[in-house]
Amino acid sequence: MEEIIGFIEKNKENYIEELKDFLRIPSISTFPENKDDIVRCAEFVSDNLKRIGLSRVEIFKTEGHPIVYGEWLGAPGKPTVLIYGHYDVQPIDPIELWNSPPFEPTIKNGKIFARGATDDKGQVFMHLKSVEAYFKTEGSLPLNVKFIIEGEEEIGSENLSVFLKNNAELLECDAVLISDTSLYEAGVPTLTYGLRGLAYLEVEIVGPNRDLHSGGFGGIVANPINILTQIISKLKDKNDKVTIPRFYDGILNLTKKEEENLKSFKLSDKKLAKELGVDSLIGEKGFTTLERLWTRPTLDCNGIFGGFIGKGAKTVIPSKASAKISMRLVPNQNPNKIAKMFEKHIKKIAPKTVKVKVTNLHGGYPIVSPIDNPANIAAAKAMQKAFGKKTVFVREGGSIPIVIEFSKKLKAPVVLMGLGLNSENLHSPNEHFDLNHFQLGIKSSAYFLSELAVVK
Ligand code: BES
Ligand code: MN
Ligand code: MN
Repeated sequence: MEEIIGFIEKNKENYIEELKDFLRIPSISTFPENKDDIVRCAEFVSDNLKRIGLSRVEIFKTEGHPIVYGEWLGAPGKPTVLIYGHYDVQPIDPIELWNSPPFEPTIKNGKIFARGATDDKGQVFMHLKSVEAYFKTEGSLPLNVKFIIEGEEEIGSENLSVFLKNNAELLECDAVLISDTSLYEAGVPTLTYGLRGLAYLEVEIVGPNRDLHSGGFGGIVANPINILTQIISKLKDKNDKVTIPRFYDGILNLTKKEEENLKSFKLSDKKLAKELGVDSLIGEKGFTTLERLWTRPTLDCNGIFGGFIGKGAKTVIPSKASAKISMRLVPNQNPNKIAKMFEKHIKKIAPKTVKVKVTNLHGGYPIVSPIDNPANIAAAKAMQKAFGKKTVFVREGGSIPIVIEFSKKLKAPVVLMGLGLNSENLHSPNEHFDLNHFQLGIKSSAYFLSELAVVK
């Protein structure tokens, strides 16, 4: 092991240079105009998987963006780990708020700034480099490894879901390893054992059959923007509870063990509020900030548009207005059922003076896995070795919809070994990744492969 760790340390700079090439590719999955970049990015991943020493590497075309698969199965009788990640990234807007161009990786104060740095290219790359370190030093791996790196995570993983259904045998494994989550705090080794699910919908309110002069018609016809905002404001009550009937039905309670674990974290609301530039935090009455974030569902408007939004003024009653609304879900909420309940509720509270159209954009199930499965224990040991500190277990507020599907279809435990930080601006301008965590992640990955190799 020392030799492998030594190799990782010696190659720190090389690894960073290679990561920069990965980050230069604008693989934004949601825009059709980036299709070629997506293809180029899949090729980059595939070339790298070949170069680090895997025996079989393939790019699978899908209805959407390609899936990159790689394997090395040279350790018969040993466990197999499936490493998942995504090479696609979020859009870059608002571009004017970036301090350096989003696809020209820039290092400042030990952090690498670029779209995708922490979500998820930097984290995916840690595992490629740990595998490389094994091959370059020992010439082999202590267990079997499969990689599955997709290009549609940020748009719902629809085609990976199909691929998984059709190729469960190819992806067969004893554990899944994912680095696409966050550390509790800088320098604290962290494993995530729960993620929230998601229901994401768009609501369109249609009023008069055309835009109208707001003097000629103001005060006599329902304004879709006014109606839409009234509807949104009714979706949470004064205690910040979601008002959709049956929304909270059947939600799983925390176990005693979880409650104790949760209490061991001391989070300062004040400090976090200050860091976010707000006066104070808010949330569902009767719960702490960490409970709200990790264990409670919520509803948020993610975007709202309609009417005149250009510079200056234009007096108009718009014909239409829309909002994008997401709900974060916890076990046992079902995203499809929640979407239906949402639609029914919106249609019920909207006045007859407008038409309402609701579109379900995408969703995903929440997951909570046992803290003490053998794969998580191996991962906790691995991170402890790399960081020289005890590993903590957290739940997180974000979503990775494919996780539950892996766990169900492959019947394998999923290890969420995230090395990001929530403060690293994922999905936002000036996304970055701490290069110290990048290095610690490569080491954690290397230790994990050797720890998992001896798990029966
Ligand atoms: N890596 C994130 C998920 C994440 C972030 C988990 C931080 C835990 C902590 C992932 O790329 C993501 O952004 N997921 C989306 C869901 C998807 C369906 C668009 C999300 O959570 O909004
Ligand atoms: Mn991600
Ligand atoms: Mn993301």
